[in-house]
Amino acid sequence: MLLVIREDYDAISKLASSRISDLLKKNPYAILGLATGSTPLGLYKELIRLHREEGLDFSRVQTFNLDEYVNVPREHDQSYYYFMQENLFKHINIPPDAIHMPNGMAADIEEECELYEEQIIKAGGIDLQILGIGCNGHIAFNEPYSSLGSRTRIKTLTEKTRNDNARFFKNMDEVPKYAITMGVGTIMDAKSIILMASGEKKADAIRNTVEGPITARLPATIVQMHRNATILIDKAAASQLDQSLKIAE
Ligand code: GLP
Repeated sequence: MLLVIREDYDAISKLASSRISDLLKKNPYAILGLATGSTPLGLYKELIRLHREEGLDFSRVQTFNLDEYVNVPREHDQSYYYFMQENLFKHINIPPDAIHMPNGMAADIEEECELYEEQIIKAGGIDLQILGIGCNGHIAFNEPYSSLGSRTRIKTLTEKTRNDNARFFKNMDEVPKYAITMGVGTIMDAKSIILMASGEKKADAIRNTVEGPITARLPATIVQMHRNATILIDKAAASQLDQSLKIAE
């Protein structure tokens, strides 16, 4: 696991976007794993800029998103589908059928989860997975105590996560209780991972992820075991790391 600390949010967004653009230049058919949340927004803005100004080509790429709310229609402005359309997909040249997101409105959720796993395998596996991190150490919607070997499935969201998300909905009743999420095992199968975090409110989760013991209580800690994972954070998110281990700049 590689730890990369940069000055601020802009710097981590730019670095993540250059990792993606390098990958696409080497392999135009790359399979990208994408995340929602505020953290990757700067990265997506930069990818849009690279597409518009430097011709970064997404025409042969396929994407798989980490998760989606259950019972929130795709047209709802808080669905993750809507989020991805607004913040990335409609601004780049990716064909609609190359975009994969779990369908939270599927009649048979279990079948949908199995299908999603099959689609990832059929595509050849995820080359680069972008991850954010929840304040409680969750990745995608793998809440604390998720099995570290879990696959795509439905998860009940914790009160902490629902409260963190409440700002996007009219009232607490509207905040979804369930989501379909790639499992921790699904995420760990990606050939490479970039976990991004910015700001002091993530500092505690980052300290545990980087320095803590690996535990299902904090699913992000499993990333320590990945063969090609980068923890890409700004100085504020790094502020709780053990300073006695600081490397001279
Ligand atoms: C949600 C998403 C996660 C994301 C997390 C943090 O729970 N399912 O994938 O990492 O929010 O979001 P933010 O980046 O807004 O802090």
